[in-house]
Amino acid sequence: MKIEGKEYRTIWFDDNSQTVKIIDQTKLPHQFIIKDLKTVKEAINAIKIMEVRGAPLIGGTAAYGIALAVKENNDPNFIKKSSEDLIQSRPTAINLKWAIERMMKKLSGINSKDILKVALKEANDICDEDEKFCENIGLNGLKIIEDIYNKKKDTVNILTHCNAGWLATINWGTATSPIYHAHKKGIPVHVWVDETRPRNQGANLTSYELNEEEVLNTIIADNTGGILMQRGDVDVCIVGTDRTLSTGDVCNKIGTYLKALAAHDNKVPFYVALPSSTIDWDIKDFKDIPIEKRNPEELSHLEGLDENNDIKKVLIYPKKSKALNLAFDVTPAKYITGLITEKGICEASSDALKKMFS
Ligand code: MRU
Repeated sequence: MKIEGKEYRTIWFDDNSQTVKIIDQTKLPHQFIIKDLKTVKEAINAIKIMEVRGAPLIGGTAAYGIALAVKENNDPNFIKKSSEDLIQSRPTAINLKWAIERMMKKLSGINSKDILKVALKEANDICDEDEKFCENIGLNGLKIIEDIYNKKKDTVNILTHCNAGWLATINWGTATSPIYHAHKKGIPVHVWVDETRPRNQGANLTSYELNEEEVLNTIIADNTGGILMQRGDVDVCIVGTDRTLSTGDVCNKIGTYLKALAAHDNKVPFYVALPSSTIDWDIKDFKDIPIEKRNPEELSHLEGLDENNDIKKVLIYPKKSKALNLAFDVTPAKYITGLITEKGICEASSDALKKMFS
């Protein structure tokens, strides 16, 4: 998708510099900086400090992280240790484990002469596949927006949470892909963007990328969705996910669950968009999902531009207050109207998911 009119993917391998290039998302929306990752350690750090984030992009970065490890030292013990360190970089998004396991499987038994070429190709294939899947999610989800527009004959208002946009994937996004497809088709759409405290991925990333693609959007405080739904100002909610269980329960950015409850109470359809790499086929009970607990400083401090256009961080809480920063919650399947996947739209249930992906 575009930034200042130029097409980008969120991550790529640059043949000239022999480095992995990323867009540093900690600096957006105020600064657009492309950063080099030269080592697996740098890839791990980029995931940890969220220079790259969003489940599919975390997976893509981990895949390139393995390739960087191979480039540094193709000793199997080093590659294995690197894969274990990468897996620890963030706990909740299942795409991380999925991508690392796929890379390690591909590399097993490959001789040292070919291993770097194979690793780079597999990382690239993982990213190409994610882009294609997200495009298909968009084409499948487009039908939902089209149906609403055909009945309403007026702008379709979509509410989304966090950033499940192209910046969270390789391209297109998951939740945003149907929106971009509708916009490209000329269907009038407007997006209510949940600010998404504490890191403000909605305001900083979703609104930013929608602006760059000229999609109408309005940032709202996280608690505003309820009243908008009561007033009939939301036609549909579409969100992403970091881990969807085979039961249809969906783990996503903290606050998603409350939006789903409000949608259920107001009979607003609530869809979750995901590539199959985000499905966890092993865990059955959502209480077993590892929920990331992040630094309370993300709550107590805010970052923004000061009067000199410099990025500044300020404390907004009482100095003595404690804060709890859980990064994700789980929306039970019963509140989900449907899952929009690369293969089609299905019910959030184990039978439907099994049927779709068997
Ligand atoms: O903590 P983040 O910014 O990595 O969380 C991202 C989300 O919760 C997204 O909704 C999810 O990863 C889906 S991305 C297509």
